[in-house]
Amino acid sequence: MKFFVDTAEIDQIKELNDLGMVDGVTTNPSLIAKSGRDILEVTKEICDMVSGPVSAEVVALDAETMLAEGRKLAKIADNIAVKVPLTWAGLQTCKTLSDEGTMVNVTLCFSANQALLAAKAGATFISPFIGRLDDLNMDGLELIEDIRTIYDNYGFETNILAASIRSANHMSECAKIGADVATAPPAVIKAMANHVLTDKGLAAFMADAEKAGIKIM
Ligand code: E4P
Repeated sequence: MKFFVDTAEIDQIKELNDLGMVDGVTTNPSLIAKSGRDILEVTKEICDMVSGPVSAEVVALDAETMLAEGRKLAKIADNIAVKVPLTWAGLQTCKTLSDEGTMVNVTLCFSANQALLAAKAGATFISPFIGRLDDLNMDGLELIEDIRTIYDNYGFETNILAASIRSANHMSECAKIGADVATAPPAVIKAMANHVLTDKGLAAFMADAEKAGIKIM
């Protein structure tokens, strides 16, 4: 499973990218607003740092303006994936941009039917939002499973990009189900390293090393 990092914070992307943990980046208008940066400038900086796909989201609602925005975003770098919402206008924009050879990430997906439409419209990525479904007492992981089944049944090449990930557990569950990509905030990726038995075992080893006076340097 590929790891995308879900942030527009340059320092956090760099730290994970230097460790080989970043196969791509996703942003959205809320993350750009949080960074306090200009969308075109910060997106260019991210594209220069990361070789994989970098999602940058349109902010228009109608297809004509969405397409113009998408074409402008696509000019930032070759690794841009234009992010469009899962609306009828978003699907129209997706079809045109993907026919032009631009990667498209269709976002705000909350149902298997929506994912089916995005694949038919030629999406490179479909972004089902796990956490926001879980927040409503619905099953976000079940949606990933359903989309995996549907895409495999018909050989759709659209990548399932599990989004709105809130926990390290979401990451391993997505990997088990067969999501192609999971995008997560840096803190969630780092939390994947944590285990209480690792902490306990390390404390015991350190205590024994100190008692025995073990020194390496
Ligand atoms: C990424 O593509 C999505 O915009 C993001 O994962 C949404 O996450 P949230 O539901 O935590 O805002």
